[in-house]
Amino acid sequence: MRDVTLLNIFEHHIAQKYLNRSGLAHAIAVAYHAFHLGKEHQLDIDIAAKAGLLHDMGHYTWYKNGKWDYDLYKQNDIHPIKGAERAHKLLIRLGENPIKAKTIALAILFHTDSFLPSNDIIRTPLQQIVKWADERDEEEGGMHHYRTIDYVRARQSIIRLDQWIDREYD
Ligand SMILES: [Fe+2]
Repeated sequence: MRDVTLLNIFEHHIAQKYLNRSGLAHAIAVAYHAFHLGKEHQLDIDIAAKAGLLHDMGHYTWYKNGKWDYDLYKQNDIHPIKGAERAHKLLIRLGENPIKAKTIALAILFHTDSFLPSNDIIRTPLQQIVKWADERDEEEGGMHHYRTIDYVRARQSIIRLDQWIDREYD
């Protein structure tokens, strides 16, 4: 039995705020990729899916004169750090197992090298598949952040993924 489902996370107002900011469709796609990769590599699929869903929740809006400023973003972005912290806080608040919450937070922290001075991190298998899951859904020019999905369909996809996880999980 899991303490927290993807639906519990999805329906929380904090998750709604930040998942919508960085693209709900992308978050769900990455959760699905992470689930499949987790299964393939015999990792904890619940942790993988949750890290996939929440991996981008640390994004800040780098706008200048009403337009997204990519240079400002590149220079100042720390979204994996903020995302790890936000996801951890949310998960603990929802009653997540603290060991799982930490594992998910670390997978979010290391899901990209973009904010680091060098790219020499050695990832655990779980951290690696969350990075791959994100890359699988990436589109040129960051377009994956702008794909949309309506709330009802998004909620259905989350429920279906929860069912898949429950089927594999004791
Ligand atoms: Fe992403």
